[in-house]
This record gives sequence, structure tokens and C-alpha cells, in this order.
Amino acid sequence: MNTFFSRSNALLAFTLSVLAALTFLCFLSTYFRAYQADVALKTVTVVVKNVPDYSANREMNDLGYITFDLEADLTSLFNWNVKQLFLYLTAEYQSSNNKLNQVVLWDKIIRRGESAILNYSGLNTKYYFWDDGKGLVGNKNVTLTLSWNVVPNAGHLPNIFGDGGHSFKFPLDYAPSVRSH
Ligand SMILES: *[C@@H]1O[C@H](CO)[C@@H](O)[C@H](O)[C@H]1NC(C)=O
Ligand SMILES: *[C@@H]1O[C@H](CO)[C@@H](O)[C@H](O)[C@H]1NC(C)=O
Repeated sequence: MNTFFSRSNALLAFTLSVLAALTFLCFLSTYFRAYQADVALKTVTVVVKNVPDYSANREMNDLGYITFDLEADLTSLFNWNVKQLFLYLTAEYQSSNNKLNQVVLWDKIIRRGESAILNYSGLNTKYYFWDDGKGLVGNKNVTLTLSWNVVPNAGHLPNIFGDGGHSFKFPLDYAPSVRSH
């Protein structure tokens, strides 16, 4: 046995276990942080149309159009183990087709070093708000929630629902839709 190689092997093994222990400590020190923050959400415009859904055999389905205000200061979520936050806004509601519908309407990534203060008014959704039937028109309880996945340098990946959802109603009548050819 060559002593040079067995020594450097032992040194490597030692270095790796020290690194593993440090990573584990880093994980422990942030594991118990809540990653909670207050979120203020409010809808501005709420309109629903009944239009052909080209992703579903051109069936006539409800399509919601909303704009919303969003205010949250997520600066406190960035401790030294946080690489980035993945934020997403969901709408949750019941319909006669489904007991629970969840639709992602908007998302955003905030990287370490970027501003974590959100202060938007009249923001448009990024994604279409389709229902698979007529579940939006006249719906009395649609709840918007901002949630976030915390992407850490080491450790687990908590999925947090922001405090302060917002419930709103869709109007009883469809907005006129402009027919396109
Ligand atoms: C958002 O902007 C309003 C007015 O411009 C200000 O009063 C409020 O403090 C801001 N919110 C945050 C979280 O910075
Ligand atoms: C609205 O729906 C949410 C869940 O989606 C529920 O927590 C809340 O109690 C409902 N509110 C009313 C007034 O039914």
C-alpha cells in the first residue's frame, strides 16, 4: 500500500465529512424558520366570458379576466440559505363539475439580491383563467392566494401559503365577447 495515496484518501474522506456536517448545520439552522409573510391581494377588474376553448375541442367554456393589486414585502424570507423564491398566485373555487378547482394565474421568481418588495396595482394574470364548464359565471367564492416555494442552498424545500388570501365573486352575467373569424 502506498502511504501517500492512503493519506490523501483519508484527508479527502475527512474533508467530505466536514463539508457534509457543515451543510447539515446550515440546513438545521434554517429548518425551523417559518418563511411566512403577509400578503395583501385585491381584485380590480373581474369579468367572465363564455367563449370557445380551443384547447378543449372548441367547447364553450368560461374564461375569467381579472386584474389585481398585490402588495407584500418578502425581504424577511431571504436568510443566507435561500437561493431564490418561486412565487405563484392561485385561484381556488368550487364548481358543479369539481369540488376543488385550482388554477395558477401568475408566477414570478425572485433571486437572491433582487428586490423582494412586491407592489403592483392593476396587474394582469400571466395565464388564462379557464374553467372546464360554466363554473365561473356567478361564482360567489373564488379565493386568490399567493404561495411560494423556497429554493434553498441546502436542505428541504418548504411550500408556503401566504397569509392574506382574497375572495371575490364573478358577475352573474357574461361580458359580451367580440367574435373573431
Ligand atoms: C406600496 O406603495 C404604496 C404607495 O406607493 C406605499 O404606501 C406602500 O408602503 C408600498 N408598500 C410596500 C410593501 O412597499
Ligand atoms: C371560500 O372558499 C374558501 C376555500 O376555497 C373557504 O376557506 C372560505 O371559507 C369560503 N368562504 C365562503 C364565504 O364560503
